[in-house]
Amino acid sequence: MVKILPKKNFNSEIFVPGDKSISHRAVILGAIAEGVTEIKGFLIGDDCLATINCLRQLGVKIDIGGDFVRVYGKGLHGLTAPKDVLYCGNSGTTMRLLCGLLAGQKFDSILDGDKSLQKRPMKRIIDPLRLMGAKIETTTPPIKIKRANLKGVYYKMPIHSAQVKSALILAGLYAEGETVIEELEKGATRNHTELMLNYMMENGILTGKKITVCGDFSSAAFFIVLGLLLAGEGITIRNVGVNPTRTGLLEALRKMGGDIKIQNTRNICGEDVGDILVKKSDLTGIEIDGKLVPKMIDEVPIFAVAAAFAKDTTIIKDAAELAVKESNRLQAMATELSKMGVSIASTNDSLTIIGTSNACQPVHGATLYSHNDHRIAMSLAIAATAANSESTLNGSEWIDVSFPNFLSLL
Ligand code: S3P
Repeated sequence: MVKILPKKNFNSEIFVPGDKSISHRAVILGAIAEGVTEIKGFLIGDDCLATINCLRQLGVKIDIGGDFVRVYGKGLHGLTAPKDVLYCGNSGTTMRLLCGLLAGQKFDSILDGDKSLQKRPMKRIIDPLRLMGAKIETTTPPIKIKRANLKGVYYKMPIHSAQVKSALILAGLYAEGETVIEELEKGATRNHTELMLNYMMENGILTGKKITVCGDFSSAAFFIVLGLLLAGEGITIRNVGVNPTRTGLLEALRKMGGDIKIQNTRNICGEDVGDILVKKSDLTGIEIDGKLVPKMIDEVPIFAVAAAFAKDTTIIKDAAELAVKESNRLQAMATELSKMGVSIASTNDSLTIIGTSNACQPVHGATLYSHNDHRIAMSLAIAATAANSESTLNGSEWIDVSFPNFLSLL
């Protein structure tokens, strides 16, 4: 539990921790590469540590020192049978990517997770993996994977999901023949697996490399919105990943009138990186739909906060995937923001938010609950900072999943 006091203005220059998606991929690909992979800027958060623990159980030696991680790659066929259940904690990325990695191994394994992860949909990866010949005995966690020989497939994905795509890419490395994955819409979901594979491939062999992980755009997102609401002279967030498959939020916020600039863009290990400059702006509600949602899939909760402080109404459509994240994020944001006096309604795939900037009642403090979801907790902490009275946030410890120093930075 934390108490959050309102703030009227701030200016700052910050760094956010390493990208969660890229950190997962760096240790997974490092584990099956030839030679050592050295990772700088690794996200030491609960989710990525769950991936490291699973890989260690698969016989991979991994050293951690601060945010520096060294992975002693075992080569494509060097993983060994785990002695115990592989525990993925709260991390959907760990469970789904490891299912892809383990489906074609020469040993059996079982993957499990916490109560939230046990409820999340896994058939989306198990169905296509079965088409590749995977022998997976269960469709909900604990997921029991039997040793199998995989064959390549042509798979047209029925949903937008980088986790499904990445699981199939990993399985494809073990399959006989070619695996082709067609996305619902080309380039709609994050492509970190593809970029990192290309970066690590040397003469057709996955090879240990030095990897520098950029700051996580999804973590920067909280401070981007706070900057738009409160940073009179501006906030600069340095060294953030700005891969276009991740930055749909910028497009949406700029459409609302947000003053956001990206400077010093460079390419690091295949990923676009830049410094993000944000200034306080008057925001006006907009409508966003299925074209943009996949590119801001993790930012919808914090986008809802921006909409709550804007003028006029914002409608977020085609967002059914949000209901099957760490919590039902549409419902969670509707419940919590309404406690703060915001008129907001959720359906199973949409959110409608009436902005308070031209309403008579400003957003006020309240006793809020994270719904045991890191991104809900941080979105609410930002709303509470911009509100006009004190708030209490219960369940703030979930923030450690992706951004352990968030509260001290805030
Ligand atoms: C992730 C992909 C997204 C995202 C999750 C991380 C990844 O999930 O929500 O936080 O690292 O591939 P989906 O691809 O299932 O939408």
